[in-house]
This record gives sequence, C-alpha cells and structure tokens, in this order.
Amino acid sequence: MLNDLWYKNAIVYCLSVGTFMDSNGDGVGDFQGLVRRLPYLQGLGVTTIWLMPFQPSPGRDNGYDISDYYNVDSKYGTLGDFAEFTHACHERGMRVMVDLVINHTSDQHPWFREARSDPASKYHDWYVWADRQPPHARDGVVFPGVQKSTWTFDKQAKRWFFHRFYDFQPDLNTANPQVHAELLKIMGFWLQLGVSGFRMDAVPFVIGTKGAKVRQPVEQYDMLRSFREFLQWRTGDAIILAEANVLPDTDLDYFGDEGERLQMMFNFQVNQNTFYTLATGDTGPLKKALTATKARPATAQWGVFLRNHDELDLGRLAPEQRAAVFAAFGPDPDMQLYGRGIRRRLAPMLSGDRRRVELAYSLMLTLPGTPVFRYGDEIGMGEDLSLPERECARTPMQWSTEPHGGFTKHPNPSSRVISGGAYGFERVNVASQRRDPNSFLNWTERMIRMRREVPEISWGDFAILRASRNDVLALRYDWRNNSVVCVHNFAAEACTVKFRSGCNGPGENRLVNLLSDDHSEEGDDGRHTVVLEPYGYRWYRVGGLDYLLKRSEL
Ligand code: GLC
Repeated sequence: MLNDLWYKNAIVYCLSVGTFMDSNGDGVGDFQGLVRRLPYLQGLGVTTIWLMPFQPSPGRDNGYDISDYYNVDSKYGTLGDFAEFTHACHERGMRVMVDLVINHTSDQHPWFREARSDPASKYHDWYVWADRQPPHARDGVVFPGVQKSTWTFDKQAKRWFFHRFYDFQPDLNTANPQVHAELLKIMGFWLQLGVSGFRMDAVPFVIGTKGAKVRQPVEQYDMLRSFREFLQWRTGDAIILAEANVLPDTDLDYFGDEGERLQMMFNFQVNQNTFYTLATGDTGPLKKALTATKARPATAQWGVFLRNHDELDLGRLAPEQRAAVFAAFGPDPDMQLYGRGIRRRLAPMLSGDRRRVELAYSLMLTLPGTPVFRYGDEIGMGEDLSLPERECARTPMQWSTEPHGGFTKHPNPSSRVISGGAYGFERVNVASQRRDPNSFLNWTERMIRMRREVPEISWGDFAILRASRNDVLALRYDWRNNSVVCVHNFAAEACTVKFRSGCNGPGENRLVNLLSDDHSEEGDDGRHTVVLEPYGYRWYRVGGLDYLLKRSEL
C-alpha cells in the first residue's frame, strides 16, 4: 500500500532542539519552543522531523557524546516535554525520527566511568581496550587536524581504549552481546515514546569489527538485520536512516539484497557529485553516481540532501574534482575542513544567487529518494566562520528582526545568532519572508507542496534522458503508468536543449509544466526543444493537461 511505506514520500527536516526556539528565555532552545514552531513546519510541508541528539551530554561534539541514552538533557526540557512534542507532531500528522548515536558514548557515561575504574566490572568489556598502543593507532582518524589518534591511554584503567572519533568518545564494543541487547533496548525506549525511526550515526563503524588487531574493519552486516527485525517487531512502520558514506558496491550489503536490512541511507555519492556539478556545470559524474546507486530493493529508499550539520564531505571525489569544488564554493582555507570538506551553508556557497539556490533545491527535490532539509536552509541562512570546526553552520534559527532573531529573549545567549551582513537575522528571517510572496521561503513551500504531489519520484524508477547538452540533466521517472520529466540547467547561460521524453503513448507527446504555463510539445523530429534560463529548471508530467497523477490509485 502506498502509505504504508511512509518514508518513501516523506519530507524530512532536521534540527537541533537547542538552536531552534527558546521558550523560557534561558538562551537555549527547548522542546516547548519547538512545539510552538510546529505549525510553521507543518505549513512548510514537512512530514517528518529528525531531531539531532538531545540526550544528556557534556556537549563536546554537539550532543554526539551521550552520557545517558534514556533521558532528555535538562537544558532542553524533560521526558514529559518530549512526549508532549511527539504527541503534538502526531496531532499534525507529522512523524519524529531521532538520532541514534551508538558507535560510542561520552567518556562521562556511567558505563565508561565504571569500565575505566574497574577492569573487573562487566562494563569494561562494553568498550574496546588494548594493553599496548596498537601499531596502527594513528590510522583511521575521522577528524584529521583535530584528532590525532584512534587509541588513547587511560590513566585510570592503565590500558588503551579505542575511539574512532574524538578521544572523549570511547567506542562501544558492539560485538559484545550485552551491548547489542542494550542498543535494542535504547531503540525500544524511544519507540515506546512515539518515534517512527532513527537516523543511525556512523553505521559502518557501528557494524565494523573493532580491536587492537583490527587493521581493516570488516562490516558485520547481519547486525543491521537484527536491528531491523527488532524495530519491526516492536513497531511495524519504524525505520532506520543510516549515515553511511560508503562506496556504491556495498549499498546492497547495507539495504540487504531482499531489503531485509536498512530501509534508508543517505546518498553521499550523489551528494558529493551534485556539488561537483553545481560547481562546474559538468553533469557526467553526477549521472555516473546516479547510475551507480540506482540498484536497491523495492522497499529501500535513499535520503537525498544538500547540506547537513557536518562539513560538506568531498572525500569521495577525485582530487581534481574536489579542487574544483573547493575553488568554486570554499576557496579560503578557513572555509575548508579536515582536508576533505567545506564547512559552509548552502546559500553563501552559491554566493546567495537565488537562481542557483533554487536550482540546487529543485534538483534535490527531484533526485531519486526522500529529500532531507536542514533547518534554516528554507530561508537561505548563512554561516559564522568565526566559530570552530562544524559549529559555524549550527547557529540559531532566524525567526524575525527581534533581538537574537527572535530565537531567545535571553540578553546574552551562548549560541549567537548570525547578525549583520547579507545573512544576518536582520535580513534573513522567517517573519519577513513569510510576508513576501516571492521569498525563498514561499518558493520552498510551493516546491515542497508540488513534490508531495509527484510520487513518481519517490516510488518510481528513473531513466537519465539523453540531453543535447552536458550541462543539462534530464531525468524521467515512471510509476504506475505515470511519468514526470525534470530538467536542470547547470550553466550560467540560457540554453536550448533537445531531448526525447521516451514516452510515446497517446497524448504523450506533450509535457505539462507542473510549475508554470510553459508546456512543451514534441517536435516533428520526436524531440522536445526547451529553452532554459541560466540555472533554469522544469518539472513536467507526461501527457494530458491535468497536472495531477492520472493512472493511479493514490
Ligand atoms: C557523525 C555525526 C557527527 C559526529 C560524529 C560522531 O558523523 O554526523 O556530527 O561528530 O558522527 O558522533
């Protein structure tokens, strides 16, 4: 049934509770503030909210260092507030997903405290230890330049412990059956509180073998199956959306050949190549990435995104491709991070050029998968490069021209809203864009609305059409005898592009524009000839003049 696989046609919006809306004036966003903003998110067309970590944490990695999996950090509210929040989302027909950070805990987690203070405790084996520094301790760091090693000596335990990420994030020994049981319990807990699924952090590391002798971790894919089975036994429609920046030839290992493992993964391959195409106008590598990630089981789905809370990771591009993206979007070394990425938000990367920002989002909304928005991108927020590492793109939401962008009434909050300049809250905020029918916010809302009426993209199979130009990408989606064609021009110049829709049933020589009156009729040569503006885009449905789906039982 169409609606059963809800994640296929969802619009996901990710946010941090702490930077979204402060209701009590203490300078930190909270669940009550977020609840007040739900009508806004519903109006935007968001169907699923993904919350970044909000559990108790020393906060040394933006909450990705959890010290209690079964609670809400008191900065953000209480478990009661969380339950009110999920209830309020459900009232509005929205679902909630939460981050599941189980590769590691904080070093302040009671499990680790006990593990390090008492090697005889059962918790000792919940982490990964070595008596001597492993020879490859300097390999495989995730944050080069900031993190020096993946093994650190613990004075209390007098042993070395493994940490794939920062040294305050000891890795859990996920091969330990007790740890495995605890991970399921964590999922069960949040399911019981009403969530519809998890964005699972760092999946390849969660399932990789760990230990002093492990040079090249081996993924234990069956662990994914056990997670899924548990989830579906407890709550039939709950899903996992994996953060797994992996090569396409392992995609099916993650999804499972029969779709028995993960329901969703972020498509990092397409993400990185999208930025290459935005930077150069060359659609070749993006087409390759789309083809390489095409195969997936019927129930599986990609999460497609532009920017997230981390750096834009370009590590999978060839060095000269990466250099081209750096040159276009992050030429200043301070805009780059970890030698592989760009730490900026999308709008400033595209020089605030509305045409290019629209092109990027129009593309994201029409790539195969479920679109995932990052809070603030719908109004074109910028970054604050004076903040360290990835913090620069995690500033508070800009609601209005009131002090601190209306985010808080606190006179001096520790999270500072971006102020002044082209991206300051005085110029970029929700309230002003709400009033302006031509604002980017209202454009985004209209596009999301249309995207939700185009299930072909979510459900269908796609074909890359042979366009007469390499700087134009033309995709067709087919689903239940309906087809849409989406065309994007990555060039700074207007152009004329010719392509065959590939559909030749009765009435199918017409492409009905879903967004304007500018339809297209097939020429005598059997091709469509479309004139596109610089960075122009078109969404068409094949056949008839009604823009809605024709041949389907929705
Ligand atoms: C993931 C998160 C990132 C975090 C890391 C460690 O990559 O996206 O923000 O720092 O995991 O938990």
